[in-house]
Amino acid sequence: MRNDNIYKPCLMRIEKVTDEAPDVKTFRLKFIDDVQARNFDFKAGQFGEYSVMGEGESTFCIASPPTRKGYIECTFRKTGRVTSALANKEEGEIIGFRGPYGNRFPIEEWKGKNLLFVAGGIALPPMRCVIWNCLDLREDYKDITIVYGAKTVDDLIYKNELEEWNERPDVTLVTTVDPGGETPAWKGQIGFVPTILEKMELKAENTIAVVCGPPIMIKFTFPVLVKAEFKEADIFTTLENRMKCGFGKCGRCNVGSVYVCKDGPVFTYAQLKKLPAEY
Ligand SMILES: Cc1cc2nc3c(=O)[nH]c(=O)nc-3n(C[C@H](O)[C@H](O)[C@H](O)COP(=O)(O)OP(=O)(O)OC[C@H]3O[C@@H](n4cnc5c(N)ncnc54)[C@H](O)[C@@H]3O)c2cc1C
Ligand code: FES
Repeated sequence: MRNDNIYKPCLMRIEKVTDEAPDVKTFRLKFIDDVQARNFDFKAGQFGEYSVMGEGESTFCIASPPTRKGYIECTFRKTGRVTSALANKEEGEIIGFRGPYGNRFPIEEWKGKNLLFVAGGIALPPMRCVIWNCLDLREDYKDITIVYGAKTVDDLIYKNELEEWNERPDVTLVTTVDPGGETPAWKGQIGFVPTILEKMELKAENTIAVVCGPPIMIKFTFPVLVKAEFKEADIFTTLENRMKCGFGKCGRCNVGSVYVCKDGPVFTYAQLKKLPAEY
């Protein structure tokens, strides 16, 4: 993105607001400036700083795939100051955006492989970006399996897309909710994501696994994958350390010598194992 001042946000109009779950919304955003729109490009896994004037900035991944041109989407949970101000915005209003920042999922290197996506709760947005990116290039990949869990049925996000993935013959979708989170009409699994994963017949050979979720889910999911003989270098995740600048200047996000904003947010399990435990 061309912008002379690297801290100056571009202005974006909120084209569409979707209520995904309690306190979780998706914004579809379009650049106001045609030149900025034309010059903008990004890769799956990258993130941006989204701002409300007078309130501040928040870091979210870009949740739509780079294969869908002309707009970007972000999905966020209302947790504090900036996300509350964003949640009060309506269609047609303007917000700030700077980015894209960070590295990316190396999906070109995954060509010809099976893909296993494992996501929990509000961590589906970075995964949604890479899932749609790969589905838009479907012939490049072999089996695609998506395992997604949330606390309750109400907390599942992208419900329409889950239905779409469920109906596709070239995708295997497994959805689950935590015990007690089901409704009488619920047809998916009941149980925590790692437990459901453990019960599945996982095929590690020629398969890449992508895991995004709360730290507790990730902690229990990695060993299941390792036990199923996935190579540590074939297991990918994204980190969500607090950030400020987004591009390696402020030193807010580092883990040891690694800047999560610049060297990440995408890491393999093999890379994470070499970092200090604080991540
Ligand atoms: C690379 C990256 C991608 C992210 N992608 C998304 C996304 O797609 N959708 C989404 O909803 N959120 C995402 N986050 C988290 C998001 O940035 C924070 O939830 C948000 O900035 C909180 O802003 P706030 O001003 O509303 O909250 P604040 O008022 O600053 O804080 C509210 C509460 O949230 C906690 N908090 C704030 N930031 C983080 C964080 N990074 N990790 C854990 N706890 C935090 C605070 O400690 C506090 O308890 C991402 C973070 C990173 C670093
Ligand atoms: S967010 Fe500033 S250095 Fe990473």
